[in-house]
Amino acid sequence: MTQDELKKQVAQAALKYLKDIPVIGMGTGSTVTHLINLLADCNFKADIEGAVSSSVKTTEHLKKIGIPVLELNQTGDLDIYIDGADEVTPHKKMLKGGGGALTREKIIAAASRKFVCIVDESKCVDVLGKFPLPVEVLPLARSYVARELVKLGGQPILREHCITDNGCEILDVHNLNILDPVELEKTINNIPGVVTNGLFALRGADVVLVGKGSEVITL
Ligand code: A5P
Repeated sequence: MTQDELKKQVAQAALKYLKDIPVIGMGTGSTVTHLINLLADCNFKADIEGAVSSSVKTTEHLKKIGIPVLELNQTGDLDIYIDGADEVTPHKKMLKGGGGALTREKIIAAASRKFVCIVDESKCVDVLGKFPLPVEVLPLARSYVARELVKLGGQPILREHCITDNGCEILDVHNLNILDPVELEKTINNIPGVVTNGLFALRGADVVLVGKGSEVITL
């Protein structure tokens, strides 16, 4: 199976988590794109009252298939949030933000009772950090934050031609070997000018579905 087929397969397996849930939280990325495409044709689509979206891209896609997009301020906490990841550990800690939507993703994840992470097997790692860690920053703080990230042992590189949905910029931090993701998540978020970083360790996933060969494994 190709990586894209594995993503579609795991998205198919995630559908059942959305059944009988009136308001769903929806992530961003190519795996979620498969999920939304599958939702368009599923027999319980009409029962979904709406979705809280983590990005402009996901919002457009949801609207295209006829699912109303709701504001988190109106919905309150959600029963479920489904999203992909760039890396995930056996402890269900994740590194996310390759698609640049990390801040809204983290907010919706925090406001959800269950986080279901959907990945193909290439995303499974023992230690996070091989994938560069995205850090969303206020533009005026970019250089200062970059210097602080160097002090933490990383090599930050500005993501070119990228302005986030929040009007901010992203530093992709290379060469981090993240042995304590909870601590690093807090440390980076404490740097003035950081909006948030792509470690999802304080609030990890509750369920991880992994597309592996011809099967989907549940962690
Ligand atoms: C979006 O900002 C990311 O957090 C995505 O969830 C992550 O990059 C996974 O993307 P794919 O599903 O495209 O691999």
